[in-house]
Amino acid sequence: LTADQANLVKSSWKQVSHNEADILYAVFKAYPDIQAKFPQFAGKDLESVKDTAAFATHATRIVSFLSEVIALSGEESNLAAVNNLVSKLGADHKARGVTVAQFGEFRTALVAYLQAHVSWGENVAAAWNQALDNTFAIAAKTL
Ligand code: HEM
Repeated sequence: LTADQANLVKSSWKQVSHNEADILYAVFKAYPDIQAKFPQFAGKDLESVKDTAAFATHATRIVSFLSEVIALSGEESNLAAVNNLVSKLGADHKARGVTVAQFGEFRTALVAYLQAHVSWGENVAAAWNQALDNTFAIAAKTL
């Protein structure tokens, strides 16, 4: 990721990083198989869980993780830290039966959300694509 690309990812993420529950809702809505992997949400109507405290808590965990990795991006000296965080995320999710294909679904839903909610354009799209290629390749090794 170039420094310019990291800045584009950071500035666009800032536009949506406070929409935690809305982002998780979009992911579950597009991919019910992801929702089904969560013991506390499996088999429940998405509309009835989306406003609960448990939903907000989990949405905050996911979004905070993304914010942490994004904050580290664009600095070569942070590459090892990113690698550690994302490798651990992959391993923790593998233990829950989450698949690489489901991470791919998450990616698709996240990009669709960004596209609809941030100032989008060719450069922003390319920056996110590169950032997600890099991090998902790390996750795939331990998933
Ligand atoms: C935790 C499922 C993707 C970040 C969890 C938990 C489940 C889960 C079942 C445990 C929830 C609990 O405490 O009961 C999934 C599924 C995914 C997915 C099915 C399919 C794509 C992601 C992605 C991220 C993420 C892409 C990061 C951007 C987290 C974090 C936690 C968590 C930070 C809490 C920390 C931990 O326990 O590892 N996930 N997840 N998840 N997930 Fe995911």
